[in-house]
Order: sequence, then C-alpha cells, then structure tokens
Amino acid sequence: MDERIITNNELDEDRELNIRPSLLEEYIGQGEVKENISIFIKAAKMREEPLDHVLLYGPPGLGKTTLAYIIANELSSNIKTTSGPSIEKPGDLAAILSTLEPGDVLFIDEIHRIPRFIEEILYSAMEDFTLDIIVGSDSSSRSIKIDLPPFTLVGATTRAGDLTGPLRDRFGIVSKLSFYTEEELTKIVKRTSKVLDCSIDDKAAIELARRSRGTPRIANRLFRRVRDYALVMGSGHIDLKITKIALDRLKVDSLGLDETDYNLLKSIIEKFDGGPVGIEAIASSIGEEQTTIEDVYEPFLLQNGFLKRTNRGRIVTKKAYDHLNIDYQEKNN
Ligand SMILES: Nc1ncnc2c1ncn2[C@@H]1O[C@H](COP(=O)(O)OP(=O)(O)OP(=O)(O)O)[C@@H](O)[C@H]1O
Ligand SMILES: [Mg+2]
Repeated sequence: MDERIITNNELDEDRELNIRPSLLEEYIGQGEVKENISIFIKAAKMREEPLDHVLLYGPPGLGKTTLAYIIANELSSNIKTTSGPSIEKPGDLAAILSTLEPGDVLFIDEIHRIPRFIEEILYSAMEDFTLDIIVGSDSSSRSIKIDLPPFTLVGATTRAGDLTGPLRDRFGIVSKLSFYTEEELTKIVKRTSKVLDCSIDDKAAIELARRSRGTPRIANRLFRRVRDYALVMGSGHIDLKITKIALDRLKVDSLGLDETDYNLLKSIIEKFDGGPVGIEAIASSIGEEQTTIEDVYEPFLLQNGFLKRTNRGRIVTKKAYDHLNIDYQEKNN
C-alpha cells in the first residue's frame, strides 16, 4: 500500500533531467512568493522550529510541485509525497502521517481531493501534531491519540476554492502562483537550453516564451519539440526560423493558443452567439471535461482577456474575435 501512496522519488517528465530547479535561487519568477517563503524558511531555521504549513495554489504547470521540493531542500528536510486522490481511507492518511520524522515535509498534491471525512484527521495533525484515530469496529471501537513529530505540510491545488474553510485556515502560509511574464519564461527557456545542452538564439527563446501560455511546463515541453525539429531539419541549434516552423506545425499560435483554445472560443462564437453560455454547455459542445476547461484552459484565456466570466455565463470578448479574425458585429446580426 505504501508503494502507491508514498513516493519519495517522484518520477516525472523532467525531474531526472534536472530541468526542475532545486534551489529557491534557481526558481525563476514568482518574486513575491519566493521572497516571503525565503524569509519564513530562514526564520523557522533560526527558531529551530518546523516551517509553518504552506498552501500553494494556481493553474497547472506553474511550479507548485517544484516549489514544494525546493522548500524541503532549503529546509534540508526529507520530503514525503502523496496526493488527494490516493487517500481513500482514514488509514491511508494515518499510515503516511505515522512515517513522518521530526522536521519532515509532507507534500500533498491535489489536496482539494481528499475526501471530507478524512480531512478531519489532518486538522489535529496540523494544529497539535497529534493523530486521532478510531481503532476497532462497532462496539469495541475506541479513539486513540498518537503524538506526531513536528512536520510541515505543503499542500498544492489548482482549486483553492474547493478547499474547506477549516482546512484552509490551518495553513499559516498561503501562496498563489501566477502566470509568468515573457521575460521570466525566456529565462526559463534559456536555463532549460543549458541543462539539456542544446543552444538557442535569443530571439528564438523569446518566441518560445511568448507562445508558452505563461506556463513553464509548456515552455519546457515546446522546447523539447522544437529541439526535435532543429535536430532533424537543421543543425541541432535552435534559431528563430526553426522555432516558428515547429510551433506552427504544433498548431501553437502567435500568442500561445492551441487547438483546444480555438475550439473553445469558436464554439462559443458559432454555437452560442459569443455567449453568455454556461460551462456545462461549453464542455459538452467541445467534448472536454468541465474541470479540464476550468483548470487548464480558462485561466489563461480569462487572464489575457479572450474570455470573460459573468454570472450569466462565459462571454467571448472582442479581443478574441479580432484574434480569430471574426467580425465582432456578426454577433449582433
Ligand atoms: N519558477 C520556475 N523556474 C524554472 N522552472 C520552472 C519553474 N516553475 C516550474 N518550472 C518547470 O515547469 C515544470 C512544471 O512545474 P510543476 O510540475 O512544479 O508544476 P505544478 O504547478 O506542480 O503543476 P500541476 O498543477 O500540474 O501539478 C517543472 O518541472 C519545471 O521544470
Ligand atoms: Mg504538481
């Protein structure tokens, strides 16, 4: 069971390739979040106490998991990781909590997906470092209290709004990650170029950054694909020309919108007259999960003014019509 729930060595796309920064200093952007966390880590070390519990939230691919590992690293602590969906029974959570050692970081990804009836176990664990569990069954059941060592819980979620009040209130540090600027993403692309030992022109790095939806994960993913084109169609070096060819072929447009973004915007324009339209109707018309639209696609479209959320539903903006080359007036015909 432990194999599934606790993974000390998260094997993901790029951890093994060192693309993922391991120190705060290497973590690009998110200035305010970084500065605050850096101070709280220093203070915790000076007091020789564990860092207060940290909640990281924001759209996918912005660096929540990366930051959780960095926090553990900067604290010189071990990190144990699990995720909301893999905690199905109270015992699953109790099992992880009871493996903690003093000063450990427990990282719970997708923390909003812990079932409510299990969540309560976290309350006393976070607040008093105690584990209250019921043992035995029916008539012979009794509650026992186990002391836990002081630890730091780092929770990550794309949906802070789905967290219950009592859970959210138990995090002393709550940090929201936001989309990265073009300059920050350019730095990330250049760093990736060094780590992967594949050179890239400045202009190509900027182009890649501009078309990465403000998201480091997308920047790194596109970098790998452009690298393939450069290797097969050129000398291996990434220049602006090859970058543009590759991104066009990958159907990533000049502002980073991809096919799904186009489907989404066009379907609201064509089938719902530009909106307002409810999220359920959009989801079924383009065949995507509602949560995928809300978590993955919408945040960028909203942030960049292609889409507006009103209490009557989503509306496509003039900016989107212009970008898609569709006459805005058509809407009122
Ligand atoms: N600030 C940063 N500086 C450099 N690289 C970064 C930064 N943030 C993220 N990355 C890169 O982007 C990748 C994706 O980040 P990460 O996995 O931490 O995102 P996430 O927020 O946990 O996403 P999800 O919500 O999908 O779990 C990382 O593997 C890392 O390579
Ligand atoms: Mg993550």
